[in-house]
Amino acid sequence: MRIDIITVLPELLDSPFAHSIMKRAQEKGLLEVRCHQLRDFAINKHGQIDDYQYGGGAGMVIMCEPLANQIEKLQGERTYDEVIFLTPDGETYNQGIANAFSLNKNLMLICGHYKGIDQRIRDKYVTKEISIGDYVLSGGELAAAVLVDSIGRLLPGVLNDETSALTDSFQDNLLAPPVYTRPADFNGMEVPEILLSGNFPKIEEWRNEQALQRTKERRPDLLE
Ligand code: ADE
Repeated sequence: MRIDIITVLPELLDSPFAHSIMKRAQEKGLLEVRCHQLRDFAINKHGQIDDYQYGGGAGMVIMCEPLANQIEKLQGERTYDEVIFLTPDGETYNQGIANAFSLNKNLMLICGHYKGIDQRIRDKYVTKEISIGDYVLSGGELAAAVLVDSIGRLLPGVLNDETSALTDSFQDNLLAPPVYTRPADFNGMEVPEILLSGNFPKIEEWRNEQALQRTKERRPDLLE
């Protein structure tokens, strides 16, 4: 999969994809992430890409021209399955959306800043608007990093059996059960005996019960 990210702060995205699973996904050729500096399409030599909003009010708005030129340049190079704008007024992101996005070949992510981007860009080019939660970030970059990470780890071959995405929280609408490692007794706090039993069908049953109980307590909405 290829993911192109349009941003005024590509530096913010240097680190999130340079380590661990995202790094390996790219080294294996399963994921390609490219960040594009929107200022390369500035309307003047001062690097301007934003302007005051019509109607007055505080906050700058990213202009149509730089975004349209950047988007159309990328669209001239390949066909995008989705053009995604990260914005707090988008659809709330979840595992189901990540699963669906992971089936695509080419995604374009647009990071907003300031008061956002001109509505006409949203109307003409954007196919999905995504929020990563009900709070406001300074820009879309951290949200873009969340999407790339959650999508990238779902691509076939990125995770091995031990880290398989199938056992993640949310994958079956259940939270993950508790996990333990050595020592079996930590200052008098003991690991549940069943996990030491070697009875794998029973362990599986226990984990399912724990997952269900945890979900009932913490996220009953997932069971509805
Ligand atoms: N940009 C600013 N806040 C955001 C959020 N909550 N989700 C996605 N993009 C954003």
